Amino acid sequence: MVIKSVELEKVIGVTTKGLPDSGRPEFAFAGRSNVGKSSLINGLVMRNGLARTSGSPGKTQTMNFYNVNNEITLVDLPGYGYAKVDQELKAKWGRMIENYLANSVWLCGIFLLVDIRHKPSEDDIRMFEWIKDQSFEPVVIATKLDKLKRSEVKKCVSEVAETLGIEDESRIIKFSSENKSGRDEIWNSIEEELSRYNGKI
Ligand code: GTP
Ligand code: MG
Repeated sequence: MVIKSVELEKVIGVTTKGLPDSGRPEFAFAGRSNVGKSSLINGLVMRNGLARTSGSPGKTQTMNFYNVNNEITLVDLPGYGYAKVDQELKAKWGRMIENYLANSVWLCGIFLLVDIRHKPSEDDIRMFEWIKDQSFEPVVIATKLDKLKRSEVKKCVSEVAETLGIEDESRIIKFSSENKSGRDEIWNSIEEELSRYNGKI
């Protein structure tokens, strides 16, 4: 997709009532805090600094809706599994994210990000299964590819696939926001999903 325009269109927090009626297909990015969701969105639209990122987890605390080309909406979600946030707020974020993923009428695809270096956590497995229960086929993106030596990649991807129960590990997209490898694959996946979605309505 050629990026002609990008703007932050809507910000939804735990106290916001209702969901935005964005009017265009939405693609959401879920995953643990610090896994690289906001960095990935910046990489996809080639705008460093559009979505705020941070070395410490818990940076994104709202659901941020980015209008791309007036064609699609990319949704940056708060991360889960961030220990320092108090239980009550964590539960509110969880409910907010689940409410969105379960009820948005415009949601077209969900990407689940995991850190390529680590075995997916219990939270990751739960999220992966929960997304499938919502009748979505989550596309898994293994982030921070640049942190691995080339010789380590295959073993790490296999571990992600095995832990999540993904039979065909070639379906896992490997991404680095440092050098943008995997960017084209993510756009291809978005466009594929989009044509399926447009065929449906
Ligand atoms: P929350 O908003 O807290 O849920 O985190 P997030 O998933 O949005 O992560 P964010 O994009 O803020 O990135 C967290 C940290 O990881 C930042 O310091 C990023 O620079 C770094 N990071 C993200 N992606 C990559 C990557 O592909 N490679 C490397 N080396 N660092 C990355
Ligand atoms: Mg973030």
